[in-house]
Amino acid sequence: MTDKKKLLRSLAGEAMDVPPVWLMRQAGRYLPEYRATRAQAGDFLSLCYNPELAAEVTLQPIRRFGFDASILFADILLIPQALGADLWFVTGEGPRLSTITDASGMAGMKTKDDIHETLNPIYETVKILAEELPKETTLIGFAGAPWTVATYMIAGRGTPDQAPAHALREGDPATFEALIDLITDATIEYLDMQVQAGAEVVKLFDSWAGSLKGEAFDKYALAPTKKIITELKSRHPDLPVIAFPREAGEKYIGFADAVGADCLAIDTSVDVTWAAQNLQVAGCVQGNLDPKLMVTGGEALASEARRIRDALKGGPHVFNLGHGITPDADPENVHILLDAIRS
Ligand code: CP3
Repeated sequence: MTDKKKLLRSLAGEAMDVPPVWLMRQAGRYLPEYRATRAQAGDFLSLCYNPELAAEVTLQPIRRFGFDASILFADILLIPQALGADLWFVTGEGPRLSTITDASGMAGMKTKDDIHETLNPIYETVKILAEELPKETTLIGFAGAPWTVATYMIAGRGTPDQAPAHALREGDPATFEALIDLITDATIEYLDMQVQAGAEVVKLFDSWAGSLKGEAFDKYALAPTKKIITELKSRHPDLPVIAFPREAGEKYIGFADAVGADCLAIDTSVDVTWAAQNLQVAGCVQGNLDPKLMVTGGEALASEARRIRDALKGGPHVFNLGHGITPDADPENVHILLDAIRS
């Protein structure tokens, strides 16, 4: 037990006074060395598809901060691209994709078996990381959950309320469901390849899960996530999985059990005392410091980090933010955070 990596111990259900720590978007624009390597690659997508440089930016925050886990550097929108969507990033604005508005949009899509042609460099990045990471650091692979990925493929961009995706879901359910099924099947193959290449844990990001309510949540957030996890675990029985149905609210209750996840990641809106009573009973919880504190820092950051750690220390906990660290965060604040949690 003792030589097992700290993150894997939490995911297996062990409570610890000092939880393992990593941060969503820990490789990113708040780090000058990330910005330099991205410039060397040319742009964000070229960086994602360059195994040596993608491995380098994945390792940068590990060298600088010694996090307990390292998340593969890639993006949830590489699957749409591998399925045939056009994808580009507009500086200062975010992703743009070709849109799927009806059955004809689906007709242009490739199949789950075609994705590796595009995604092979990602598996190469994982292989490099499996070799180069410190032996105590756990390597996390990831993908977007089908609903969140679909919202980008339908709208062609990020949307505040996911209205285009809801419109297709309600107006043309056959096309919408075909898209969800295609992303689900492709994601299984993609994550399977990440695990074969050396990812020790996988995380599913459902960033827009909170905009699905009631039965729609069960059908399009919960069910596809469950299908992915069930199939991955049938292929890799010991693989731990982290699920992040962001802003799921009361739908967080029972979610980990329902989908078969080993850990439930929670957003900043969830009260940690409530999480300890209602969510941690089912297993490991990950979260949920407000990323704004990584910008403002100081004693407010240290005391809030300790409050979250202490509220969740009665059960398995992975310390993280409630959403990704932002480009305006001060890297020095990561040291304040780690000192607060680890002391
Ligand atoms: O360090 C890590 O967390 C690993 C790499 C990672 C990225 N994106 C790199 C990235 C991960 C796990 C993601 C997940 C992701 N990507 C999500 C789910 C998590 C979330 O934030 O809700 C989503 C919705 C995306 C799609 C995406 N990628 C958007 C909307 C954007 C633009 C907004 C932004 O933050 O710039 C991206 C770009 C992106 N993905 C960057 C990084 C480091 C910034 C690109 C740059 O360097 O210019």
